[in-house]
Amino acid sequence: MNLDQLHQRVAQIETEVASVLCDLTNLDALRGFESNVLGKQGSLGSLIASVKEFPPDQRGQVGKLLNEGKTRIKGLLAERLAELQAVAQADNADDAAAFDPTLPGVTAAMGSVHPVTAVQWEVERLFERLGFTVEAGPEMESEYHNFEALNIPSTHPARDMQDTFWLTNRMVLRTHTSPVQHRAMKKFGAPLRVIAPGRCFRYETVDASHENTFHQIEGLVIDRDMGLPHLIAMAKTLLAEVMKREVELRVRPGYFPFVEPGIEIDMNCRICGGTGCPTCKQSGWVEILPAGMVHPNVLRAGGIDPDEWSGFAFGLGLTRLAMMKFGIRDIRVLNSGDLRPIVSPPRLGGPIVWSRDERK
Ligand code: FA5
Repeated sequence: MNLDQLHQRVAQIETEVASVLCDLTNLDALRGFESNVLGKQGSLGSLIASVKEFPPDQRGQVGKLLNEGKTRIKGLLAERLAELQAVAQADNADDAAAFDPTLPGVTAAMGSVHPVTAVQWEVERLFERLGFTVEAGPEMESEYHNFEALNIPSTHPARDMQDTFWLTNRMVLRTHTSPVQHRAMKKFGAPLRVIAPGRCFRYETVDASHENTFHQIEGLVIDRDMGLPHLIAMAKTLLAEVMKREVELRVRPGYFPFVEPGIEIDMNCRICGGTGCPTCKQSGWVEILPAGMVHPNVLRAGGIDPDEWSGFAFGLGLTRLAMMKFGIRDIRVLNSGDLRPIVSPPRLGGPIVWSRDERK
């Protein structure tokens, strides 16, 4: 490049800078552009770095030409900087003026408790009134508590009844809340009235009424001369209290190794009114409360003499009860993060609004 060409190139850079600066609208963009022009790799910066490539007798002129160009370009940049700073200050002033701290706040919608929690609290309140203790058990259980202590030895075919998440340390994710029966017997002895709400886990196919993670409430009463009529009366009271009306029940025989005799208490499906729907598998009935008289082996394992004491136990399907109460047709909704507020179907008497205060 000779001196003439250099002259033209510097003039061209100045024209480009002037044109680009008009389009820059914020300070960050301006700083970026400045380095694109004056930085070592920049359009003018790289020319300044190349002065040493000119013959020694021309270097003075070249340096002067480039320095003058640089001064003019710096002037253009400084002008635009002042303009943009003035605009930014005016914007801040507008924002400050627009903020009025005396205006009333915006009302935020209150959250509501999860339907399962709402029913759990309601059941806990009822049983507390009846003199029951509310106990919790671990979700990660030993094989012994989940099976053996409940009269389900390792060879017993009943273990096939519950598809289990086995952990690598030979523990299990509890398949039901029944292990708390044994823990409560060991802790309190007889007589005993306890309920134990909590999450259970089963490795099974999910559909409208089955989840792999769901809630149960275990119930256990140990006293003298207990019988099935006590159990059935209690089930009626419990379900009527939660549903706020008489509930049609169906009692049929059921098999669980930890009770003898065992029964299944089903309730009329509140989704379809008993005519049949996917939630009740078209049967009109929902399995809600399997139960029975505590097996003597289970009493013995818990350190209680079966010749002196008898008792009944139940495993309430809490998640399904919440579905019945609030008219939730598909169990999957409950673990899906659906934030719609709880509303019961119109035929059950209009919306029910739950709040945290509900527990008081
Ligand atoms: C049991 O879990 C027994 N431990 C109950 C029991 C306790 C019987 C004490 C006798 C004495 P079952 O597997 O049927 O039983 O489950 C009890 C209830 O939990 C069912 O009636 C149902 O309402 C609910 N349930 C079971 N599996 C699921 C599931 N995958 N999803 C949602 N709810 C379920």
